[in-house]
Amino acid sequence: MSRDGLPRLADLARARMSRRGLLGAAALGGVGLATGGAAVALQTPGPHLGELPDTSAMHHAMASVGDIRADGFDPTAYLTDFDYGKVSILPTGQPLREYYIVAEDAEIEVAPGVFFPAWTYNGQVPGPTIRATEGDRVRVHFTNKGLHPHTIHFHGIHGATADGAFEQVSPGGTYTYDFDAEPFGLQMYHCHAVPLKKHIHKGLYGAFIIDPKQGRPPARELVMMMNAFDTNFDDENEVYAVNSVAFHYQKHPIRIRQHELVRVYLGNITEFDLVNSLHIHGNFFKLFRTGTDLERFEWTDIVTMGQGERAVLEFSYKHTGPFMFHAHQSEFAELGWMGIFQVEPALNA
Ligand code: CU
Ligand code: CU
Repeated sequence: MSRDGLPRLADLARARMSRRGLLGAAALGGVGLATGGAAVALQTPGPHLGELPDTSAMHHAMASVGDIRADGFDPTAYLTDFDYGKVSILPTGQPLREYYIVAEDAEIEVAPGVFFPAWTYNGQVPGPTIRATEGDRVRVHFTNKGLHPHTIHFHGIHGATADGAFEQVSPGGTYTYDFDAEPFGLQMYHCHAVPLKKHIHKGLYGAFIIDPKQGRPPARELVMMMNAFDTNFDDENEVYAVNSVAFHYQKHPIRIRQHELVRVYLGNITEFDLVNSLHIHGNFFKLFRTGTDLERFEWTDIVTMGQGERAVLEFSYKHTGPFMFHAHQSEFAELGWMGIFQVEPALNA
């Protein structure tokens, strides 16, 4: 039983996965068909056990799955949910932004009916997207309510005491990270307690946007963190996603307007696999690696990143209709890292 008296959901999910052969499939070690079959099993609530992992089975499974998630995290809301902090002005005139982050253990739902015993920042994976402007003072008040020592390590330029690498915060402990926001771009934060791969893959990470002083052109802005979950604890991932929930943006396409400028803040925090990638259909994007340059970009339709890498992508759709976006590692796409942009006609078209 869990602390709230309910049956432990992760145990139930593990039992379900084992019934459906997921544990066995994972034991085969990344064999494409076996893990593809696992994706179908994950997505299918009942009688489809043993079906071949073909496209029609996948589509049938998608259509039959409910949308009510137990942990309260909504990946669609996460896309545009920015925490600008509590703002005040220091005597020096420098803006101060204060953020409150609590590490806590929580079970999250990474696919319908599949629960993962996560370690979270503020109860969600990824943690809140922290947003500041270049030159602001950032002060993060961290409390560890988890059962293990944790930290917050920020990417960026800052002093050693704000780096979150050495000062492990014990359960019940607190720490304040205090630094200037620099350089502008898409940064990231994550726990840096050991063993690092465990503290990261359990869910302790989030996006950290530092806006340039002069801003960027107006756009529809979306945060995407490519992540994955080792649901049976064999040091391999069984579920892949962007923003934690397998196939969420396939079932709930991201609606954008034709010709509308879209800006994606994309990070890769996937553990165990060496790289992850994003590919968009029917379009190309401007790729600003780490988002640290406003002028120079690459013009492409795939970006491939190692763990911890980030990029800012800008694009607008010339054509209307549904367009896929997904990992160009086909195995990842079949295990959940797949979504759709639904491009609606321009308002004045
Ligand atoms: Cu940790
Ligand atoms: Cu890092």
